[in-house]
Amino acid sequence: MTASAATHYDRVTEAWRRWVMGEELHFGLFRYADASLAEATQELTVHLAELAQLQVGLQVLDVGCGVGTPGCDLAEHEDCRVLGISTSPVGVAAAQAQAQRRGLTAKVEFQVRDAVATGLTDDTFDRIYSLESAHLMDKVGLFAEMYRVLRPGGRLSLCDVCLVGNEGVELSSYALLGFPNVAALELRRAVHATMHRAFGSAVLSHTRVYQEAALAAGFQEITLYDLSEVTRPTLSRWAENAARHRGDLEEALGPDYVEGFFLALLHMSYGWGRLGGYLAMTATKPA
Ligand SMILES: C[S@@+](CC[C@H](N)C(=O)[O-])C[C@H]1O[C@@H](n2cnc3c(N)ncnc32)[C@H](O)[C@@H]1O
Repeated sequence: MTASAATHYDRVTEAWRRWVMGEELHFGLFRYADASLAEATQELTVHLAELAQLQVGLQVLDVGCGVGTPGCDLAEHEDCRVLGISTSPVGVAAAQAQAQRRGLTAKVEFQVRDAVATGLTDDTFDRIYSLESAHLMDKVGLFAEMYRVLRPGGRLSLCDVCLVGNEGVELSSYALLGFPNVAALELRRAVHATMHRAFGSAVLSHTRVYQEAALAAGFQEITLYDLSEVTRPTLSRWAENAARHRGDLEEALGPDYVEGFFLALLHMSYGWGRLGGYLAMTATKPA
């Protein structure tokens, strides 16, 4: 089990939900500049559901279920049966309470399980979708496990924060600011450590890593979509919310965490368009 991600999510989930991100703990897809964060996050869930080609009655696995809002929405609107899993007991308890509140317990269930070693039966699910959780996991282990539990002919759809473009660009952008190579490497290390702390063991991987891991697992018809531009406004919305509720956040998570969170947002905004980005992908298990 990825203990540090679970600990992180147990600690931050309620504060992120109330004061920063809202009911869905992922980026928004901004089709209109003036869309609210809630509209945009829901839009991303709907977009991923479209990519998943959900149909009535299908058995769906939600990998990294957060507080259960996407899983409950999909079970309700698409009339599927959903199992949501997460390593965070706090998130799973919130998700179970939400399913209860919305009268959806016959269609949706949430369990504490690690996505890279689920313990679920082979060939079980018609669809697997994962909203912004894969950056917390080893990609080779994740795709192998998703392949195992997906039925032959089943479809995986996933979106995630990642690295895009030329990997040399990050270092050269520090060099452009006048830093010598040896310092540029240290700057990169510090930036990634800041991101890692703010976002719970997050390791941003290049889109290439996702593609190679999916191929190695046996997936076919792998398609990647670049959502970097349409998701970018999310960072300023999170920063605005965090600034407005800084006192509450500091009380809940401590001033050091909040300071680091703002720095991570700054780094992501600065890197965006150079290296930081957002990926959606679909893949199928051969029938
Ligand atoms: C950024 S949140 C996204 C939550 C949800 N998908 C949403 O969009 O609202 C990442 C989620 O992945 C979960 N997670 C992290 N590592 C995991 C693992 N190894 N297995 C399953 N879930 C994991 C976290 O607990 C959290 O629920």
